[in-house]
Amino acid sequence: MDTSYQTSSFTQLDMSPQNMQFPTGFLWGAATSAYQIEGAWNEDGKGLSIWDTFAHTPGNIRDGQSGDVACDHYHRWREDIELMKAMGLKAYRFSISWPRIFPQGTGKFNPNGLDFYQRLVDELLKAEIEPFVTLYHWDLPQSLQDQGGWPARDTAKAFVQYADQVSRVLGDRVKYWITFNEPFIVAWLGYLIGEHAPGHKDRDEMLHAAHHLLLAHGWSVPILRQNSPHAQVGITLDFYPVTPASSHFADRYAAWLQDGYRNRWLLDPLVARGYPPEVIQFFNYSMDFIQPGDLEVIATPIDFMGMNYYSRQIIRARDRENEDFTPIFLPPPSGSELTEMGWEVYPQGLFEWLTRLTYEYRFPAIYVTENGAAYPDNPNDSKIEDVQRINYLREHFTQAWQALQVGVPLKGYFVWSLMDNFEWSHGYTKRFGLIYVDFKTQERRMKSSAYWYRRVIASGKLD
Ligand code: NOJ
Repeated sequence: MDTSYQTSSFTQLDMSPQNMQFPTGFLWGAATSAYQIEGAWNEDGKGLSIWDTFAHTPGNIRDGQSGDVACDHYHRWREDIELMKAMGLKAYRFSISWPRIFPQGTGKFNPNGLDFYQRLVDELLKAEIEPFVTLYHWDLPQSLQDQGGWPARDTAKAFVQYADQVSRVLGDRVKYWITFNEPFIVAWLGYLIGEHAPGHKDRDEMLHAAHHLLLAHGWSVPILRQNSPHAQVGITLDFYPVTPASSHFADRYAAWLQDGYRNRWLLDPLVARGYPPEVIQFFNYSMDFIQPGDLEVIATPIDFMGMNYYSRQIIRARDRENEDFTPIFLPPPSGSELTEMGWEVYPQGLFEWLTRLTYEYRFPAIYVTENGAAYPDNPNDSKIEDVQRINYLREHFTQAWQALQVGVPLKGYFVWSLMDNFEWSHGYTKRFGLIYVDFKTQERRMKSSAYWYRRVIASGKLD
């Protein structure tokens, strides 16, 4: 009997670099977000965001840093587009700062704020770089937080007004809209763990926030489609493969619960599966915030799924013998390669999630909207030889190529990040960029990884 279950296409996959060719038209890009790069926190009529408030509160950010200046991209955006051109980027993912558009979150519109993004989009298009616009990358207007923030349902209504205004103005030029970036992180780190703005620690707030983020997404999809009829609309979630610590059933069930909590909590409602029932039951969540019709709104079909991918999680049950399945994190296996964030390098997880999103969830198109790594780059080199970052990217691109071979509709890939920037509670201590930024002088320098990426983009192959 033949016990080999491998298909011939797998065993014969030719992985030599000259064979790993990406399709023509594949959108190679890089990503950033408004608060992490723009600076100009109080210019041209911009209102306060929760990140302004949070970063200005002592003790929240490493070394007391903030995004007040960041990469000063608000003033240096032309220079930054020149660097994108030098790298040959096909696409650029950035986010819009809501408090630049509506300084108070709703009500009075600030045209100066939108002018900045119009200039940016026009210049990108002139450079033949496709703009991918994220509407929400964590900088909620402070006045909306003062009225309850994401745990309040009205915040979702305010988002719809904001999405409408932006897409009315940019809808003729922007072809790709991402409603939210990593809503799980918004709800979890912002409202339960307190490591991100607004720094709350309340389980119900987290659950309500997550629901209203999804609701705001669902309500805005048809509006974006209407204002931007030729555009594709999606959302970006962050996905982590969850590996059980052993084959013991308790560890496997704990890993399943963690997958439900960390991955499927937001993913399943988006595809009309509702919130994972085993997670609701295990944590004894009250779900009374769901109103009739909400789940239908949340499940409004989207054109693509955006996937941020960084690492995996290894989970054991808290007490196997007594069947306490509470998920407990284990450190990466000894000898694993780690990035400067302490995250295990686990490239095969990218393939696992791309195939899962394709064959289990059936998304018609997928973009890797973020993938990349922080390493301690050495600025004294005449060149900045970030070999580890090149290896990290090559290994992940290889997994993406393999996913394409098995039919995953992967259309593009955005490296996080275009340039070193404000890494949230870590301040400027973690560098993810393809471009090195000297935060004292604002000088930018392409790292070796940027030159390497330029070659990949130009040839469509991994050298
Ligand atoms: C995901 C977030 O979207 C981005 O803002 C952050 O900088 C990267 N992960 C790296 O942590």
